Amino acid sequence: MWNSDNPYLNGNFAPWREEGDAYDLEVEGEIPRELNGALYRIGPNPQFEPLGPYHWFDGDGMAHAFMLREGRAGYRNRYVRTDGLKAEMKEGKALYGGLLRQTAEVPPDRPPFKNAGNTNIIGYANRLLALWEAGLPHELKPETLETVGLYDFGGRMTGPVTAHPKFDPKNGDLLFFGYQPFPPYLTWYRADRAGRLLESREIDSGLSVMMHDFVATDNYAIFFVCPSVFSLEKMAKGEPMLAWEPQHGTKIGAMNRATGEVKWFYDEAFFVFHFLNAYEENGSLVVDGCRMKSVDMTGNSFGSPPLPWRWTLNLKDGDIKQKQIDDTSSEFPRFDERLAGKKHRFAYFAAHLGQRAEETGFNTIAKRDYASGKLETQSLAGGKYPGEPVFVPRTPGAAEDDGWVLAVWYDPAVNSSELAIVDAKNFSGKPVARVKAPHRVPFGFHGNWVAA
Ligand SMILES: [Fe+2]
Repeated sequence: MWNSDNPYLNGNFAPWREEGDAYDLEVEGEIPRELNGALYRIGPNPQFEPLGPYHWFDGDGMAHAFMLREGRAGYRNRYVRTDGLKAEMKEGKALYGGLLRQTAEVPPDRPPFKNAGNTNIIGYANRLLALWEAGLPHELKPETLETVGLYDFGGRMTGPVTAHPKFDPKNGDLLFFGYQPFPPYLTWYRADRAGRLLESREIDSGLSVMMHDFVATDNYAIFFVCPSVFSLEKMAKGEPMLAWEPQHGTKIGAMNRATGEVKWFYDEAFFVFHFLNAYEENGSLVVDGCRMKSVDMTGNSFGSPPLPWRWTLNLKDGDIKQKQIDDTSSEFPRFDERLAGKKHRFAYFAAHLGQRAEETGFNTIAKRDYASGKLETQSLAGGKYPGEPVFVPRTPGAAEDDGWVLAVWYDPAVNSSELAIVDAKNFSGKPVARVKAPHRVPFGFHGNWVAA
């Protein structure tokens, strides 16, 4: 691929170069009739040969949809047509640099960064949104994946929107934040299910860091300020703009959603890309996530493996209790999101069994039972590489874990991908359906199920 030895431009990290539509895909097994809707996924998929060093997070967003209806499946993929990508398509070459190095190719009348629109894709306010944490979301048409344009909550939002907003299950409110490398570093937002921005509140986090995710309970929004620190000076010199500065430690802010008051907790330095969930219990906040000892954002080797971790934050005395749940390296944590902010029992991850090989991706999906400690895995007989697993409840009123886990897998033996649908209660058993994609689907970031 472009004569590059960058692992994130090769194998199934390499971009898929065509857009298309396919219908009536080959299915092994039977797609449950209850699954009517689409599994949307998104990830980086550079259209043009990168100008400088390429970071996995830089690639142009490509949205993928597996549309399921009455037991049949279709597939569609489209680039998110951002302003930056459109400018590059007009010139027929890359204009923008990325996380590791900015370039001088961007015309002075254009913003210095391309909003890649590549990180997460959600259904919200009767729209489909492609999210990227350093800018506004892009609105896509759910039926066609056609890009409508930037989505700014009816003109109310100008700043960046995290790629990991949460839905408040009691009213459908969208809870989110934005961060930026200059004050105010962090802003909390709440919007209703119709897209009306209801609340915005600046938080003095004191440090300019990359903050990929957060977590919320009924009464608190919880922000982990991990010391992956921005430097505008380094950026100006053309160096990687993020540095690991463990001397700051990690601090955790629990913002009271009613008063805005923030209680801070202090710990040694560590890093979290993704949280699973949080809930309130006995005067404490219990937070589950995937903890790394450190993170390296100066290249494509992220550093230490992510491990399942639980923090218990005592709101009265500021004490942190924490534990590693087990030693299976796990990322892309998902759960039954009807329980967002409430006590969960089950969670689903992309995971590594055995020696971790970053360049081939994860080799299994895993289900963790936080009550019993049991870990179940599903590897599709091995030799295949899954993305993030997404849980879909069987019915709106079904119990936790009563439903399906959907993941897109890559099989290097046939250089193609499939959507595997597993019964969550028979996680390690034979998948109920394996839907063959018409071609490989590159490893990406996040996705969500949107019911028809
Ligand atoms: Fe993420």
